[in-house]
Amino acid sequence: METIVSTDLRKAADYLRAGEVIAIPTETVYGLAANALDPQAVEKIFRLKGRPFSDPLIVHVADVERVPPLVSALPLWAEKLMNLFWPGPLTIVLPKSEQVPDLTTGGLPTVALRCPKHPLTQALLESLPFPLAAPSANPFGRVSPTTPAHVLEYFEGQIPFILDGGPCETGIESTILGEENGRLVIYRPGAITKETLEEVLDTKIGYRLYTKSQPQAPGQFPKHYAPSKPLLYGWQDPPLEPHASIVLFEDETDESEHPYVHTLSPSGTLEEAAQRLYQVLHACEKDPTEYILFQQVPQEGLGLALHDRLRRAHHPSVFTIGHSNHPWELFLDLLRYYEIGAILDLRRKPTSAIAPHFSQAILQKALTKEGILYDWQPVPNRVLFSLEKLMARAPRVALLCAEADPTKCHRYKESDELTEKGFAVFHIYPNYTLRLHKAELSLPFEE
Ligand code: TXA
Ligand code: MG
Repeated sequence: METIVSTDLRKAADYLRAGEVIAIPTETVYGLAANALDPQAVEKIFRLKGRPFSDPLIVHVADVERVPPLVSALPLWAEKLMNLFWPGPLTIVLPKSEQVPDLTTGGLPTVALRCPKHPLTQALLESLPFPLAAPSANPFGRVSPTTPAHVLEYFEGQIPFILDGGPCETGIESTILGEENGRLVIYRPGAITKETLEEVLDTKIGYRLYTKSQPQAPGQFPKHYAPSKPLLYGWQDPPLEPHASIVLFEDETDESEHPYVHTLSPSGTLEEAAQRLYQVLHACEKDPTEYILFQQVPQEGLGLALHDRLRRAHHPSVFTIGHSNHPWELFLDLLRYYEIGAILDLRRKPTSAIAPHFSQAILQKALTKEGILYDWQPVPNRVLFSLEKLMARAPRVALLCAEADPTKCHRYKESDELTEKGFAVFHIYPNYTLRLHKAELSLPFEE
């Protein structure tokens, strides 16, 4: 199948009337759209994305007038918000009417409604007699697309048409708001902030996100927005690793210091950062690097939406460090440089003959003084348990062993097992390099 990229609205409408799936631009991200009221068309969206049928789709409408047939109730707060923010990046969850197929809402009794702001999609929706179900146009779990080129990379040959609306203006998905037990809740933070909504409604709004805590072990966290290589989010000051793509919030580093430094917002605004987020992640995927180190973003206003996406994109990870008989200063400096918040000591014996300053009692005391957590776990099949406990308290945990060289140390075997379980395992080398476990065995670009 050839995938046409075009601004031809008539063609776009023809495909949709025929029950096909096409990509459409919105002000937030590109969507994979089909007739929301036609279960067969909607099923194609799920199959293309590889998305579980239990994960509901957003239904896109041309304006507020088209809402009543789709819902069984339209509360005042919802109508007010629609009038204020539509067209715009606000999705509102309401009890659905019979008209909306269960397939579209993942079996839920509610429907998520949104009126997108892009002029082409506005015109398209006005010309159609039905609303459009449209999730972001990426395979399930991957980075959302903000240009037609991103969509082509994912779906070339699988969909007949991409409506070309240029790069998305807002760049981050809509805010999703609903009501639970008489209380308004945000299911997904987005371009319209909680503060803004609270102000116009003069009421408190809660959050009801997918999870309550930081991602810990792989599998505990619904993966989303993830690039094709491990992304480690949350650095104060990401180390300029030669094998990494580095993403900084603002322009702080001379980009010539490192070939793969990306700046999220050259002008230092959250709006620009949101607009560029997915574009930068797509660029990181293309860099010849092993992994991505992403600086923490400010957690206020629009920053919360960015933070939410990045937490979900974050790969569960663990570091390893050895000491041999390193001077204490070097060891501590490595921990600071890699922003390690906790040490899990894997050594079989709590004392060290060659390096008395690494004996357990002294080490624990010294680390505590530096604000670094310490735990000891010499029993191999209990490492994961201890690790998860520390990960809940510190964003970066390092496994400690005696040998500086991980290949000569039993933490190498531990690394194999943790990699198998889905962790990204990184070895900290005493020459200040960070390598993904076993990456040194398979790097075509190193020579
Ligand atoms: O900005 C956006 O909202 C983009 C553009 C294309 O409009 N769409 C988008 O769709 O982000 P998608 O499918 O990637 O994310 C939709 C989210 C899902 O996380 C889904 O769980 C939630 O909306 N959702 C849909 N219907 C819902 C409902 N009835 N109740 C709660 N959450 C719902
Ligand atoms: Mg999505």
